[in-house]
Parts: sequence; C-alpha cells; structure tokens
Amino acid sequence: MTTERGRTCISGLRVLVTAGPTCEDIDPVRYITNRSSGRMGVAMALAAADRGAQVDLIHGPLSVAVPRHENINAAAVRSAQDMHDVVMERAPEVDVAIMCAAVADFAPVQTADRKIKKDVDGVPRIELQRTPDILADLGALKTHPFLVGFAAETDDIENNALQKMAKKNCDMICANDVSESGSGFGSETNRLTICLREGAPIRLPMLQKSEAAERILDEIEANL
Ligand code: PMT
Repeated sequence: MTTERGRTCISGLRVLVTAGPTCEDIDPVRYITNRSSGRMGVAMALAAADRGAQVDLIHGPLSVAVPRHENINAAAVRSAQDMHDVVMERAPEVDVAIMCAAVADFAPVQTADRKIKKDVDGVPRIELQRTPDILADLGALKTHPFLVGFAAETDDIENNALQKMAKKNCDMICANDVSESGSGFGSETNRLTICLREGAPIRLPMLQKSEAAERILDEIEANL
C-alpha cells in the first residue's frame, strides 16, 4: 500500500524480526550466550504488528514475555543454527527482515551428551567454531527482503556499522551504542543511529525501545 506522499506502508506486508540471544550448548547444563533480553526485537515486532504487518518473530530464549498479538506469529529457537534454518526457510516469503537478535558468533564444535564432570575430567578445553551469519546469508540471496541489520558497537560506532552494512549487503543498519549506560543489552531504552546506503546518518536520542522501533519503521516505510 502506498500513501499519497509516496511512502510504502508496511500494512499487509510480511515482516520477519529476529530477537533475543541464541544459546550454544556445551553439555546438558552449560551453554554460551549473551546479555540480550529480547526487548528491542519484541518492540520491533509489536510496532510492526500494530501497523498492520504480518510479523514472523523468530526468537531465542527471551527474558521478556513473548508478545501475544493477532498479527504476530512467534517461533522459538535455541541456537544460531536453528535461527538460521528458520529464517532462511521463510526468507522467500518475506518483504522486510529486521535482524535484532544477538546471534552467538561462536558455538562448541561438539555438544556433550552428559554433563562434563569437573572432578574427573579436569578443566575441559572447549573447541569453538563460527556460527552461520544469518544476516550475511540473507544479503547474499539473489533476491532478498528489504534488509535491516543492527550493529552492537562500543567504539567508532557509525564507521563500524557502515562497514557491517556493506559487508552483509543490508539496505539499512541501526548502529547501537552498547557502551553507554541505559543503551543496548537488557535496558528499557536505547540509543541508535539509523544508517542508510545514501544520505546522512539519522542520530536518534536515547529513547524507549518502543519509540525507537517506531522511528526505525518510519525510515523503513520511507525507503522501501
Ligand atoms: O535484546 P535487548 O536486551 O533489547 O538488546 C538489544 C540489542 C542490543 C541486542 C539489539 O539492539 C542489537 O544491537 N542487536 C544486534 C546485536 C549483534 O549481535 O550485533 P552484531 O554487530 O554482532 O551483528 C550485526 C548484525 O548481524 C545483527 O543484525 C545480527 O543480528 C546479525 N548476525 C550476527 C551474527 C550472526 N551469526 N548472524 C547474524 O545474523
């Protein structure tokens, strides 16, 4: 649907959102993860659903409730590989993909079937391997959805985010300052800079994650 100002509304479009951390199992009781609560991804999913989009919310284990909304179809996954498989399967049907999840970059090469015993086995050496880069794999598709990445950065935030946007072939990237108190992982608020392929970066003030989500959707609708 297009408005009289030439904007494409996301109402009726299919929007995929990833949210939360992934967990990479070492053994049945231990795993590698990160501090993502899922708040930012859930805020994105709710804001898009309220605008009338059909939302696929693909999420790792969340610290917040999975939203109930008639326009949200939520799918729980655990590992980066699980998230990759679900996202790639749905990608051909999706108009916009917003990749908010903090996907683990490394996973154990092997997951032990039984709890690794500390007194018998000594200090274990856990060999790690890279996980699939979901965003990069979406960007490499011949035709891909309008692709929005997030970049969690602590320094040289905009430059690092722009490099990620180019490397992963995104249409937009939200540079996320995760070094500032109240911004990034776990908080209710976030400080983001929206970078597009052309034009000046849009530096948002510290906002509630729900407000930041609305600003991101405004830019998506203006650039679809
Ligand atoms: O969940 P909250 O507590 O609300 O915190 C929100 C957040 C800080 C997690 C979120 O705003 C955020 O910045 N998400 C991206 C975190 C991240 O992992 O950034 P990155 O710079 O490592 O990754 C860049 C992009 O590639 C991201 O879109 C990420 O989803 C994607 N990626 C990364 C690795 C991988 N293996 N696959 C991916 O798709």
